[in-house]
Amino acid sequence: MRATGLIHQIRNRLKARDTYTRPEYWDAKASEYSGRAISMWANPNLNQLYDREQKAMLDRYLPAKMEGLECLDAGCGMGRMSLHLAGKGAKVTAVDFSAQTIEAARQQSAHPNIDYRVGSLFELEAEDAYDAVFVWGVLTVACVDAKEVADVMGRLHRALRPGGHFFIMEPLHSMKGLIRVLDLDLGQFCEVMATQGWSIQTIQQLHFWPARLALAYTEVPGAVTSAVYHMGQRAMVALGSEGWGDYKFIHARPS
Ligand SMILES: C[S@@+](CC[C@H](N)C(=O)[O-])C[C@H]1O[C@@H](n2cnc3c(N)ncnc32)[C@H](O)[C@@H]1O
Repeated sequence: MRATGLIHQIRNRLKARDTYTRPEYWDAKASEYSGRAISMWANPNLNQLYDREQKAMLDRYLPAKMEGLECLDAGCGMGRMSLHLAGKGAKVTAVDFSAQTIEAARQQSAHPNIDYRVGSLFELEAEDAYDAVFVWGVLTVACVDAKEVADVMGRLHRALRPGGHFFIMEPLHSMKGLIRVLDLDLGQFCEVMATQGWSIQTIQQLHFWPARLALAYTEVPGAVTSAVYHMGQRAMVALGSEGWGDYKFIHARPS
């Protein structure tokens, strides 16, 4: 299974359900790409801009210092969010079902506060173990339907300590061409969350999707990437972000 090249990306997207839900696809990415591109896009300049914007969004909800707090980064990929949390002093359990991605994260994103583990979302058994749980771009490639989302949402709810926080960032869409594997729009996704005891606190939209489509799959020069990205950001504001954000950031708490 090849992960690189635009043609392969398009082929993979056409059979997304049989591709992204398997660790073999992510293992192949780990051997064909390096750095953040292993678990993000092929364009490293876009990854840098997205990474910065996502962490800035998260920081509005996180304390500057997180010493003494325990976090779960479920579907951690190369551990960029784990590193961010560990840098604030949190202890992080970082889990991903791709053994090769975890190996690359151990080598390239090591931190004494991060414990990288190979494991699936569908096997999480922790109870009252974490103060905050993070799922970043994972559920929409891991889950095929509402039943699977409910299963994982229930596991994450049990893993969180009372009073804890849950942070999600996922590409949830009603437009077919933007759907990864999971065919649930934002409203349906939130309904499933509610059935598992989650109360939504905030929803925000990130990353203008037309700019993402134009930039993600190839190594566009940094200046072009930056110009198109910033035009996209301005377009989102001008158009009103509703429907134009590729990713939805959700902050939830146990109800
Ligand atoms: C798009 S990447 C996002 C990685 C990381 N959260 C980030 O934002 O950089 C999706 C990750 O989810 C992992 N993944 C997919 N399905 C999974 C599952 N069922 N259990 C655990 N990890 C899974 C993949 O291996 C991949 O590393």
